[in-house]
Amino acid sequence: MERLRNWLRESRHTVVFTGAGMSTESGLPDFRSARTGLWQGKDPARLASTQAMRHNREEFLAFYRMRIEGLLSCKPHSGHHLLAEWERQGVIQGIITQNVDGYHQHAGSQRVAELHGTLTTLSCLRCGRKEKAARYLQEEGSVCECGGFLRPDVVLFGESLPEAAFEQAVAWTEPAELFLVLGSSLAVSPANWFPQQAKERGATLVIVNREPTMLDHLADLVIQDRLIGDVLKNLPLDF
Ligand code: APR
Repeated sequence: MERLRNWLRESRHTVVFTGAGMSTESGLPDFRSARTGLWQGKDPARLASTQAMRHNREEFLAFYRMRIEGLLSCKPHSGHHLLAEWERQGVIQGIITQNVDGYHQHAGSQRVAELHGTLTTLSCLRCGRKEKAARYLQEEGSVCECGGFLRPDVVLFGESLPEAAFEQAVAWTEPAELFLVLGSSLAVSPANWFPQQAKERGATLVIVNREPTMLDHLADLVIQDRLIGDVLKNLPLDF
């Protein structure tokens, strides 16, 4: 931990990269943890893909209603608030997140690139109207006032990443001196291209994750511990 504290103090351009492990201590499940992961015993393509949205709509809606209920009933934890404080103090330049729960912004972070979109809003496929995600929990909540289908603003399997978020993540990654991964298996591309790119460009790569990840072999430091319980609570608010 002392090495991470020193790197955080010395780095003039630090980028944080978060995955679902950042929100499990808020009460939201991740995807690939044994037993509790959302993909355990399920086929993501049947639930979170454009095909599922078109041809398996009931299961698709049930899956996203369940996830929206979760993110509305849980809230950001001290780790999300710590990152927001670090942004305010200039300790970090930005957060590249795979998460769609909006908890970084909810905790006060403003410089957030959401690579996989957001589950906090819905968009009508016919007229483009935006609605808050809570609407999905109402009767007929997926039907727009125009009669069109309201889809979650997440990136589905089969869709490309939002260009603005991707460009922002590239802009933060290029000059990074320290690239800090928090709570991701780094199993999914192209999101896992960013830690690799940071490393190739000479950044120090630190991975904090409860289990081994796909890119541990590239890291300068791997901390296999719980984010809040063991790591972030031991990092200072100010440097
Ligand atoms: N502390 C530290 N690590 C944790 C904690 C915790 N409290 N809780 C979970 N983890 C770790 C798990 O061990 C796991 O390796 O976080 C990692 C989360 O990995 P995934 O479940 O694969 O989630 P993520 O990496 O965000 O997945 C990326 O896959 O299906 C897509 O769109 C989905 O954005 C998601 C993407």
